[in-house]
Amino acid sequence: MEVDNKDYTGSKIPSAQLVYEGPVQPEYISQLEMSPDLHVFREPHKQHQALVDIAASSDGIVYIARHQNIIVGYVTFHNPDQYSRWCKHDNILELGAIEVSPAWRKHKVGKNLMKLAFTNPIMDEKIVITIEFCWHWDLENTGLDIWQYQKMLSNLFGSVGLVRVPTDDPEILEHIANVMMARVGPRVSEEDVKKFEEMKFCGGSIFNYK
Ligand SMILES: CC(C)(COP(=O)(O)OP(=O)(O)OC[C@H]1O[C@@H](n2cnc3c(N)ncnc32)[C@H](O)[C@@H]1OP(=O)(O)O)[C@@H](O)C(=O)NCCC(=O)NCCS
Repeated sequence: MEVDNKDYTGSKIPSAQLVYEGPVQPEYISQLEMSPDLHVFREPHKQHQALVDIAASSDGIVYIARHQNIIVGYVTFHNPDQYSRWCKHDNILELGAIEVSPAWRKHKVGKNLMKLAFTNPIMDEKIVITIEFCWHWDLENTGLDIWQYQKMLSNLFGSVGLVRVPTDDPEILEHIANVMMARVGPRVSEEDVKKFEEMKFCGGSIFNYK
């Protein structure tokens, strides 16, 4: 089905022209342009470089939605941040960010990116987590309030099997709208699942977990 849409210049283009691809190599990302309205996390040129760096790192995985030579959406995965408790688990992959150009939103680009990423067999061997901090949410462009936005993200990540995870991680507890979600891949060992369960509540400090 073709859906009419506008690109960032205001021209009408059919969303069927989008190409979804990945994992993409850093050299390939470098050759492409970044849509200038991809600036939720940082300025587009910095985010472009961040995608290159993630794709170049040993643990990084990047998927993109592309219109001609322009990146209009992306999702990234990498090992958890070294300051978070989750990095103390050997088998966790963190969904770092997903962003779709406002001109392309609400046309399943986000869901298609997630769907493609979860065809990668590595996802079945990992515990994939995402930590959603509400201060990153684009309330202005979506017109959603904080709870509607949280619901929208739960729907998006739930579409590939992530579920809400209760935890006492202090970063998540910092705001009641923050949310953690996870998917335990079917090939994750019982030992890794047990360790993950133990890490959810470990006294509010990463230093309490060995
Ligand atoms: C979150 C984001 C990636 C979603 O991208 P998208 O391409 O619009 O997502 P989809 O079109 O696949 O929509 C996913 C679901 O959310 C719903 N949705 C998306 N935007 C919505 C909106 N503004 N209002 C109501 N529902 C919305 C869709 O209807 C869809 O649900 P459905 O399949 O049941 O109909 C996009 O809004 C974005 O880039 N936001 C800024 C960055 C961000 O917040 N990232 C998440 C934190 S890392």
